[in-house]
Amino acid sequence: MNADSRTRLNQTPEWTALAEHRKELAETQLRELFDRNPGRGTAYTLRVGDLHVDYSKHLVTDRTLRLLRELAAATDVFGLRDALFGGEKINTTEDRAVLHTALRAPRDAVVEVDGENVVPAVHAVLDKMSGFAERVRSGEWTGHTGRRIKNVVNIGIGGSDLGPAMAYEALRSFTDRDLTVRFVSNVDGADLHEAVRDLDPAETLFVIASKTFTTIETITNATSARDWLLTELKAGQEAVAKHFVALSTNAGKVADFGIDTANMFEFWDWVGGRYSFDSAIGLSLMIAIGPDRFRELLDGFHLVDEHFRTAPAESNVPLLLGLLGVWYGNFHDAQSHAVLPYSHYLSKFTAYLQQLDMESNGKSVDRQGRPVEWQTGPVVWGTPGTNGQHAYYQLIHQGTKVIPADFIGFAEPVAEIGDGLKAQHDLLMANFFAQTQALAFGKTPDEVRAEGVPEELVPHKTFKGNHPTTTILARELTPSVLGQLIALYEHKVFVQGAIWDVDSFDQWGVELGKVLAKRVEPALTEGVDVPGLDESTAALVATYRELRGR
Ligand code: F6P
Repeated sequence: MNADSRTRLNQTPEWTALAEHRKELAETQLRELFDRNPGRGTAYTLRVGDLHVDYSKHLVTDRTLRLLRELAAATDVFGLRDALFGGEKINTTEDRAVLHTALRAPRDAVVEVDGENVVPAVHAVLDKMSGFAERVRSGEWTGHTGRRIKNVVNIGIGGSDLGPAMAYEALRSFTDRDLTVRFVSNVDGADLHEAVRDLDPAETLFVIASKTFTTIETITNATSARDWLLTELKAGQEAVAKHFVALSTNAGKVADFGIDTANMFEFWDWVGGRYSFDSAIGLSLMIAIGPDRFRELLDGFHLVDEHFRTAPAESNVPLLLGLLGVWYGNFHDAQSHAVLPYSHYLSKFTAYLQQLDMESNGKSVDRQGRPVEWQTGPVVWGTPGTNGQHAYYQLIHQGTKVIPADFIGFAEPVAEIGDGLKAQHDLLMANFFAQTQALAFGKTPDEVRAEGVPEELVPHKTFKGNHPTTTILARELTPSVLGQLIALYEHKVFVQGAIWDVDSFDQWGVELGKVLAKRVEPALTEGVDVPGLDESTAALVATYRELRGR
């Protein structure tokens, strides 16, 4: 469908039908939905790859799901999906194709951008990464003084950090434990300081990850890392080649920095930053887990890509998850979405999803530049269970807000941990299952009274329930399963952007702050007057200078 000719979302009959339907369901309780349909728990379950997805604890009926799918059809989600996979320039504000799916396409696939098949180049870079990763892992690649590399420090930010940093944590039990791998992103010098303070520079490799190679945080940290290395090694510029490699689309800037472009791993402008971690941006992860495991991760992504590309609407899991988000965001006024992994290894998963989701769909104009008249992307938040249970779950259970949540858990603990600790896994998962049950079904005042609770405490001890959750369960957190999970969320975010009619692949909203920071810096360092500084900020800058004794 031509975007120009598209009816505005909230003027479609499908939108109106959903709004009406929402009113009909206003008093409906999950308890009731389960009573009415005893097989609901199994019927409202889908499977994609290794992921078992239970959506029965949602405030939806068959009719809700049908109306949501009709909205997807009216907004031509699958048409845009085909354009995505086909290499069309669907990132219209940057005039770019959006082809992260090509990064995990098999060697013999054909994916064309401007008439050129990009898959051979993708695999050439993957092969080059594999060769390099093996040389580092085997000790064949040595530093300037001939010592083996034992430490890898990835310097990048946003999409050039969050993906590999998250996946390194997630797949720790698959990593080479003799290697120390750290991730530096913050321009706060403390980040680099802590990352290198106990490292031997002769054994340290810096991986400078930046699509543009102009990002101020990354270039500042990379420059400081280079100064640290050369000072500590008492070496000249020639040492850089053995201790710095680059992951970038910008060969000119990489060369200007002093990195040998033979040690640059390339990617392309059709890979968005937050969709880049299975490109060359994954090099630090690949060094940590090895090329074979990295390819298993890519296969996991590809499996879900194929599912999203081919599964009918009724069983298409990313479509379903996207639609459920629309249901709550647009028809229940939910402002946020919690992602609650019951895995210590997924401690950075939600932070990764924050960029994926919020940088993609945090938009307030449609693809034509007109203000949207509907809610777009939610605030995404969450930390691993069970920690959250003893902190903010109170608000989810008994607060006043609608907070749909995803619970992600695994049947098996990772193979590496000892039997004693493995025994704790059932307790972890008992909490996982108990929470979604409590959220859905709560505890009625009568149930509270039946426990002999004094009447004045009954309202305090009542749980109204009806809090919607999705449960995603897999056997084990493997590289493939991680790839499947990420692709699931990537496509869910895509579905929502398609429905809300926003460009999910630009991020102009981060620009203003960057420009102003550059302007403010001389005011801090030299006290120069910055034209256009508002009165509040000018006073804060003055206080800062005073506190720093300037
Ligand atoms: O400022 C936002 C952003 O452009 C992200 O989209 C991106 O992932 C990040 O900065 C880092 O950019 P680069 O990889 O070019 O350093």
